[in-house]
Amino acid sequence: MPNDDFHAWSYFNPVNIKFNVSASTELATELRGHRYAVVTYDEPYFAKIRKELEDLVGPAECTINDVQPNPDCQILHDQCERLNSKVTNIEIIVALGGGSVIDTAKVLSASTLGFSNVLDFVTNEKKELNLPPIPIIAVPTTAGTGSEVTCWATIWDETEQKKYSLAHPDLYPKYAIIDPSLMVNKPVDLTMATGLDALSHALESIWNCNANPVSARYAIFAAKTIIRDLPELLSMPKNLALRENLAEAALMSGLAFSNTKTAIAHNLSYPITLKYGVTHGIACSFTLPTILRSVAKIGGFRREALQEIFGTNLLKGADMLTSTLSAMQVKMRFRDYGANQEETTNIIDAAFLGQRGKNFIGSKEDFLVSARAGNLV
Ligand SMILES: NC(=O)c1ccc[n+]([C@@H]2O[C@H](COP(=O)([O-])OP(=O)(O)OC[C@H]3O[C@@H](n4cnc5c(N)ncnc54)[C@H](O)[C@@H]3O)[C@@H](O)[C@H]2O)c1
Ligand SMILES: [Fe+2]
Repeated sequence: MPNDDFHAWSYFNPVNIKFNVSASTELATELRGHRYAVVTYDEPYFAKIRKELEDLVGPAECTINDVQPNPDCQILHDQCERLNSKVTNIEIIVALGGGSVIDTAKVLSASTLGFSNVLDFVTNEKKELNLPPIPIIAVPTTAGTGSEVTCWATIWDETEQKKYSLAHPDLYPKYAIIDPSLMVNKPVDLTMATGLDALSHALESIWNCNANPVSARYAIFAAKTIIRDLPELLSMPKNLALRENLAEAALMSGLAFSNTKTAIAHNLSYPITLKYGVTHGIACSFTLPTILRSVAKIGGFRREALQEIFGTNLLKGADMLTSTLSAMQVKMRFRDYGANQEETTNIIDAAFLGQRGKNFIGSKEDFLVSARAGNLV
């Protein structure tokens, strides 16, 4: 295990956060007198919120309302063309939805000269983005991704079976407006998957080379809250107080991993989502107990952070996490999702070589030992 403590560190997040406020009131204040676009899903619930907003501040210059889960290159290309062909001087993009909507808004915001610029940037064919981007107001309707406080977006390419990360310091949203009342009608499955995504962000920010004491404080709060409240929320999905707690926890996870990025659980998850269609939040959480076991000998402030969440015995904590996930019916082995032995080996090898894998403070050897012992592989 590498030396996991340090002395010099920094923390930065520029997003102006408004929590537990009325989204429509706050949006009305920020949008009045400005030319704005709305990005959202094509669903009646979101059309209703959009109409309420337009009644308050006047019509949007452009509406992109066909966001699909896991924004794919093909549809992003089309959406960018639509935004760019309609108007040239949009001042604000409102992202009303979960991670897929906020990530789409970030791509649109960076694509004023066309989607190909962004694609060339994320595939490393171009070193610079043609920025500044259009400012974003993010109104998350899921409590999960933390995209409202990060400066990156995940772009999926189903045809090529690839996933790209658009990352640029100018892509932090200008505002994150968090109104938990927008989340009370979230279906139980979505509540669970997004809550587990946030748990994964919190833990991934701790067993991370880039962790610092500030990110660790956010992560501890987030993980403890999610482990305590998510199971109860699943049995009481309309409970606003629990929705508020989960929204706050997801935000804190976002603030934690906005400075560290994710780590090995996320890199292991991407092929499981791309190849087997497993929801992001599930795909990035079923490996968490194994990863926790593999870093049980970690030292320093990361150990203290994990102990604040799981108790002094981290191996017992990993068992507790397995029980929590199993009680939510999360399947705990690669083969449960369709990956055979050879594919699993390939996924693990590639995950440790990738950038997110390199953020992980633990080792592949220790991971494999606990994966075999815990029957993950
Ligand atoms: N940029 C980041 O930092 C970051 C971090 C993690 C994940 N992500 C990305 O975010 C995406 C996942 O986002 P997500 O989990 O928030 O889900 P999502 O945005 O993909 O939404 C999934 C579905 O949830 C429904 N939905 C959303 N809010 C609802 C509400 N309040 N009530 C009822 N239905 C609602 C929508 O109809 C949608 O079809 C993935 O593509 C993932 O790669 C990004
Ligand atoms: Fe995630």
